[in-house]
Amino acid sequence: MTRILLAIGLAVTLNLTAPIHSVEAAELPPVDPAIPSYPAEPLRPDPATEKRIDALIARMTLAEKVGQLRMGGWSQSFDLNEARTGIIGALTGAPDAAANAAIVKASRQSRLGIPILLTDNVIHGFRTLMPAPIGLAATFDPELVRIASAWAGYEAASIGLHWTLSPMIDISRDPRWGRVVEGPGEDPYLASRISAAQVSGLLRGGIVATLKHYVGYGAAEAGRDYNSTWIPPELLYDVYLPPFKAGIDAGAMTVMAAFNALNGLPATANPKLLNGILKHDWGFAGLVTSDWDSVWELENHGIAADGAEAARKAIMAGLDMEMAGDMFKDNLANEVEAGRVPLATVNEAVRRVLRVKFRLGLFDRPDPDPKLAATRLLTAGAKKTAREIAAASMVLLENHNDTLPFKPSVRKIAVIGSMADTPSDHMGPWGANGREADVVTTLAGLKARAPDGTTVSFAPGCDRECKDPSGFAAAVDTAAAADIVVAVMGETWYHTAEGASRTRLGLPGHYEELLEALVATGKPVVLVVLGGRPMTINWASRNAAAILYAWFPGTEAGAAIADVLFGDVDPSGRLPMTFPRAVGQIPIYYARLPTGRPATGDQYSSKYIDEDNDPLYPFGYGLSYGRIVYEDLRILTPLVGRDGTIAADIRVTNVGTHQGTETVQLYVHDLVANRSRPIRELKAFAKVNLAPGESHRVELKVPVADLAYHLDDGTAVVDPGRFQVFIGGSSRATLNGMVVVDGK
Ligand code: BGC
Repeated sequence: MTRILLAIGLAVTLNLTAPIHSVEAAELPPVDPAIPSYPAEPLRPDPATEKRIDALIARMTLAEKVGQLRMGGWSQSFDLNEARTGIIGALTGAPDAAANAAIVKASRQSRLGIPILLTDNVIHGFRTLMPAPIGLAATFDPELVRIASAWAGYEAASIGLHWTLSPMIDISRDPRWGRVVEGPGEDPYLASRISAAQVSGLLRGGIVATLKHYVGYGAAEAGRDYNSTWIPPELLYDVYLPPFKAGIDAGAMTVMAAFNALNGLPATANPKLLNGILKHDWGFAGLVTSDWDSVWELENHGIAADGAEAARKAIMAGLDMEMAGDMFKDNLANEVEAGRVPLATVNEAVRRVLRVKFRLGLFDRPDPDPKLAATRLLTAGAKKTAREIAAASMVLLENHNDTLPFKPSVRKIAVIGSMADTPSDHMGPWGANGREADVVTTLAGLKARAPDGTTVSFAPGCDRECKDPSGFAAAVDTAAAADIVVAVMGETWYHTAEGASRTRLGLPGHYEELLEALVATGKPVVLVVLGGRPMTINWASRNAAAILYAWFPGTEAGAAIADVLFGDVDPSGRLPMTFPRAVGQIPIYYARLPTGRPATGDQYSSKYIDEDNDPLYPFGYGLSYGRIVYEDLRILTPLVGRDGTIAADIRVTNVGTHQGTETVQLYVHDLVANRSRPIRELKAFAKVNLAPGESHRVELKVPVADLAYHLDDGTAVVDPGRFQVFIGGSSRATLNGMVVVDGK
């Protein structure tokens, strides 16, 4: 790996070290004349294009205008005449290059020849699947995420897609919510870096990103999907909005309104969120789409008596396009004719849709030849990127007695757990165009990597949900005959996903009993967890010899797992979400506020009487095969002005015998402000490779403006005074120093 992560304005005073493994490094897709590529810069109206849009709008009938505001959902019965008659502006989910080509061609035959916008859920790769988004965040490597996203865009563009319904950048502090798998985790700074990387990568690859779900969906009460959210404005600005702003600055041209009601008003028809913050305050010039049929859901939310009111409230709030519903189609023209919706409002929405189409060059460039697609999917470049980023996403949670990487003395490996060989559970919840046949499972990966003379045996133990324990005895026999056991357990792809909220977060079914039986053999057990959310793996954390949290790693899953287990790659993933010990601790996150009664032994302090306050694993945590020591933190800017930049450095040394890839993290605590501030907030990080014995000073910088919190009207404020700066390998970093921000 020859990349290094740079925080905003970060300078790293070290030489890049040699690659730590022989696995080929990720690379961007080729610059391909047949596939477009777009710059990572905010969409701004330009006068020449706006003139073309004016001319087009002047010629459009009301029906054609309403058509542009409609995104259909493809099905077998999709009628090309919808595209040909211009009553549909966008379509999601068409199956392949030939279908896409036919649909675009039909739209070009419409009266005004306005091309249709083709989209789909390209969430973590298209044909070549990258890790599920929570794993992308766990890399703490925005550049690698950008490269992986570029491949997703490139493959999707090659079959004629223009647009993806991703990235999901909902902050969530509640692992009961199944959709945490689709997002960047709990932290606004990390999420903003990942959001910008995904957006710019998708653009480089050739498609436009959608920032979703705007906004607050990840705070669904009780972690139950689609449930209401209650977020005070200050928290909305401090935590939930920044990844959206970062994505827009990186060039996102579309935003999807969330299903949920925020503070009692559904996001789909929320004027403060859409017309207010997004379009007015931020100057967002792109289009806002609904989520799947969520305009109709306004009736269920109880804010519209019928479809007409739902359509009216949505468009008046700033929603430009309806996905997979008929509320706009059936009602908007009537609403305009009856004077309840101004024509200017419809025109403005149409303008935004057309602006995106013009920006993509759809009016001016040829459509890709559908025959090209086959040569651009699942290429060697995509696969090596998928393999590198999959390995980089995995988090080593435990490694007792240096069980990993496998020692040369390991000659017999027992792989236990049927998920070790189910391709779909390595792919994750949004398989896009991925094929099971392409996937390297854990079992296949270990078999392929095992050196001559090392055997890999397999026993499923139980079914993939581990409901039926009848295979336990055979699994225990297989384990007992081996030198080391690799137990692959966790959640199936459909157990962490949309509509997959859980109230219990342990390993599903009888997995823990199987694990106990394997551990009882006395053989070292390496637990490889597949899944998309933090789980309460307390017993495993104490009793497994090692735990590798692999998320859903994608097409190259098993190859990447083997890379890590055999030590070809150092595990460098870090947790993007706090792991609770018990569901009762949720919501649990590192950036909490202090309380008036910090936890002590005293009865009347802020604590539980039946569980620690501490998580099982903190945010930012993860082990390396190197042994990393932090020393000598220096604050380089003890006194800074409000427009200045904080700089600090620290000595990082690998005292171990293996190469180590460390994520150096900087957290800040604003000690006294006019509002209570979190005890830690991540503000910078850098990933460094260290050979055994190698030592470097790593410098991190934070613009003082990044220390701001927000008032309830969105104004950013930095209160002068003391800021404690922590640097270390997780949100539990202890070395710290003090910076004073001068108020003058
Ligand atoms: C999800 C979106 C997704 C859409 C289209 C909805 O249920 O919330 O994230 O893009 O479906 O498939």
